[in-house]
Amino acid sequence: MVQTSASVCLLGGLFLIAPVLMAPTPARMCTALKTLNETLSHRRRYMKHNFPINYTIRVHHNEIFKLSNISKMRLKVEDLDELVLQRLWFQVNQGVLKKIIRVMPERHPSRLHTAQLESRFRDAEGVFVQSHPAELFQQELPETIQDIWDRLTEEPDRVPESSWRFASPKSLLDNFCHTMYCLFSECFAGTDAQRDYCSVSRRRKGGKKDLQPES
Ligand SMILES: *[C@@H]1O[C@H](CO)[C@@H](O)[C@H](O)[C@H]1NC(C)=O
Ligand SMILES: *[C@@H]1O[C@H](CO)[C@@H](O)[C@H](O)[C@H]1NC(C)=O
Ligand SMILES: *[C@@H]1O[C@H](CO)[C@@H](O)[C@H](O)[C@H]1NC(C)=O
Repeated sequence: MVQTSASVCLLGGLFLIAPVLMAPTPARMCTALKTLNETLSHRRRYMKHNFPINYTIRVHHNEIFKLSNISKMRLKVEDLDELVLQRLWFQVNQGVLKKIIRVMPERHPSRLHTAQLESRFRDAEGVFVQSHPAELFQQELPETIQDIWDRLTEEPDRVPESSWRFASPKSLLDNFCHTMYCLFSECFAGTDAQRDYCSVSRRRKGGKKDLQPES
């Protein structure tokens, strides 16, 4: 324990010199994300089979956050910090989970599962916040990202009609899962395959049926 806090202090110092570039994904973060991954592995059953065929829910278009969005943002925003994308991932997916839960009646067969998923997501978010110095969360976001953030946090009745999309719960959780592998690749990669999870084309080759059509 003592050792842990010592290394946190040390990292705090390093961040001042080279913000986030060297941010490690600490072991506790990986434990939390792997637990989340375990819950997500049942998504076909709970998010597809337990819903009517072709069931969709209404989400903000920015809540459709896929691997292709990550590569586009990396191209668009110079020196985009991984931490910024990770924060966005948490922001997007807390909204997604909220919307999925909202459509399920209390006795829906996936209700408990989804509540557990949300609770594990919260746990991971808690660890995420604790593993970084608070100043990092106060840093200004790049404009493109801030715009997305603002739209995501807008009052639902102020969101223009054209911003809504329909997506199936399963496809939303597929995005949730694939982007998690990409943004927290240290927790999921094997030895040297670090960036592979972020590659859209590679994933397409590997698991075609997991891919959902655009929106
Ligand atoms: C994440 O879950 C998938 C099953 O959906 C499993 O194949 C994979 O090994 C898990 N990854 C880790 C790092 O736990
Ligand atoms: C579900 O969607 C597919 C593809 O759009 C369509 O072919 C199928 O008829 C739909 N099924 C039902 C039950 O609506
Ligand atoms: C991801 O891309 C889709 C389509 O290109 C877009 O509608 C959506 O807003 C993007 N998501 C984010 C979080 O930017």
